[in-house]
Amino acid sequence: MSNRKLIVGNWKMNGSLAGNAALIGDLLAGIGQPACDVAVCPPAVYLAQLQALLAGSAIALGAQNVSMHEGGAYTGDVSAAMLRELGVRYAIVGHSERRQYQAESDVHVALKAKLALAAGITPIVCVGETAQERQAGLTDFIVKRQLSAVIHLVGPCVSEIVVAYEPVWAIGTGQTATPEQAQAVHAVLRAQIRAATEHAARVRILYGGSMNADNAVQLLAQPDINGGLIGGASLKAPDFLKILAACASQ
Ligand code: PGA
Repeated sequence: MSNRKLIVGNWKMNGSLAGNAALIGDLLAGIGQPACDVAVCPPAVYLAQLQALLAGSAIALGAQNVSMHEGGAYTGDVSAAMLRELGVRYAIVGHSERRQYQAESDVHVALKAKLALAAGITPIVCVGETAQERQAGLTDFIVKRQLSAVIHLVGPCVSEIVVAYEPVWAIGTGQTATPEQAQAVHAVLRAQIRAATEHAARVRILYGGSMNADNAVQLLAQPDINGGLIGGASLKAPDFLKILAACASQ
């Protein structure tokens, strides 16, 4: 198992050429030798800019999405091979915002994960329940259904993915899952992965949803929480650096 935690910044649809250069400059100035693996996922149009800015640094490049098609007549799509050519190491797939606003289904997400893997990119497969689903007691059912679509398609290669548990009600709301709530779901996901591969222990399961400098230490201390997928707090260098520093105390 890679014992190193993984902290990924999801910039969502934020940034500008000048703003990105400033943010990366501040991150590189403060990052030193991080105690965890680190990646940032800018909007696709900035991947080439960030490839240059991050060259030789401790920060890996990630994408926020990847096409479910290999190539051809898919206007607006960006393929896994294209991402790989730009040095992309990770691709977020199935973020709840895409499931909700772009009607991405479990099957779409699984196809994306498979094509990313085939191109040598580690998919970060997002799963998570809505507030109503949690209230109805459906949390485990929903996250297992979402992950099982990926396992169905990639089989034992599930050992090569990263999973991100992101309760929809915690994303961008300031309302974080408690460490106990998060750990309980992470344990369910770990058991599901264990049934598909003997290498389940090395699959990193990230928590995402209003993770910040204040709650990171407690969340990262949970046995099945192997890192974080950070939205809002990844846009400010001091906040993101504090989360990276939280890994050093684990
Ligand atoms: P948040 O977003 O940290 O702003 O809640 C997390 C995510 O959507 O990945």
